[in-house]
Amino acid sequence: MKEVLIIYYTQTGQLLEILKQIASSIADENTNISYCELIPKEKFPFPWTQSEFYGAFPETFLQIPVPMEEIPFNIRQKKYDLIILGYTTWYLTPSIPVNSFLKSEQAKNLLANTPVVTVSASRNMWIMAQEKVKKLLVANKAKLVGNIALVDKNINHISVITIVHWLMGGKKTRMLGIFPKPGIAAADIIASSRFGKPIKTALHTANFDTLQKNLLSEGAVKINPSLIATDIRGNVVFTKWANHLIKKKGRERSKWLVFFKYYLLFAIWLIAPIVFIVFLLTYFPKYRKIKRDKAYYSSVALKQD
Ligand SMILES: Cc1cc2nc3c(=O)[nH]c(=O)nc-3n(C[C@H](O)[C@H](O)[C@H](O)COP(=O)(O)O)c2cc1C
Repeated sequence: MKEVLIIYYTQTGQLLEILKQIASSIADENTNISYCELIPKEKFPFPWTQSEFYGAFPETFLQIPVPMEEIPFNIRQKKYDLIILGYTTWYLTPSIPVNSFLKSEQAKNLLANTPVVTVSASRNMWIMAQEKVKKLLVANKAKLVGNIALVDKNINHISVITIVHWLMGGKKTRMLGIFPKPGIAAADIIASSRFGKPIKTALHTANFDTLQKNLLSEGAVKINPSLIATDIRGNVVFTKWANHLIKKKGRERSKWLVFFKYYLLFAIWLIAPIVFIVFLLTYFPKYRKIKRDKAYYSSVALKQD
């Protein structure tokens, strides 16, 4: 009997829907699939208010863990043949509950010497978050063998507008009846069941060496090279903001979070398009590097800093 654990944090259930689709084509009479939801002791809000949403930035980005509920004993005491880690990106970083789990003693015990497939469902900026997850998996002595990254395929600015409508309004509906639905398209969620097949083959042959290659041929990761530059640049600027904001307390912090909010709007609506234009202008001279970056960020390898 093969033992698979699906461990995840989702606020709206979108990520769980995807994980269930993937699991549906791994399941058979020789495979036992268990689910474990990561639960922070203090719940994060959904829908978010503006101040809660921006207020979560410094601790998220600085990867400061929060207290988590214990993983149930029946999950903790088992050794798994495969762990599927489902996470979402918050501020170019794994969400606080997932980061908190990955930094816990319980994660060390569960993940050590275990193959891991990561599944993310974000708006579209997940690349550097995945690099952070890769590092935390190494710290837990886990072996990353596969990655599936689902995104909202609408153009960047449309997805910004629609996700705000969703996260702050609480409903995954078409804004004003004219915008596309926020988040991962329903058809993409259903089609994610195809990723289970190569996972199942790897699981039953106990050979994960070609899993990522096989997942890539199913379209598990589609790198948008212009977003690599935006994500890297975003991380540089967020580092400065987060280190500044974390030192502010009380009313000072609230005041600075308002500045951060306006900076973020400015960055999304003005800086990101400029980064995109620079990307287009330098596309041909940088072609070989872009190709190398695409291959690296599609892979499960981790660069040494
Ligand atoms: C506080 C916060 C910050 C977010 N930041 C990002 C981000 O940097 N990049 C991104 O692609 N999506 C971002 N998202 C969207 C999430 O990755 C995710 O798609 C959405 O919250 C739905 O996830 P759920 O499965 O938990 O409901 C953010 C969401 C929240 C709540």
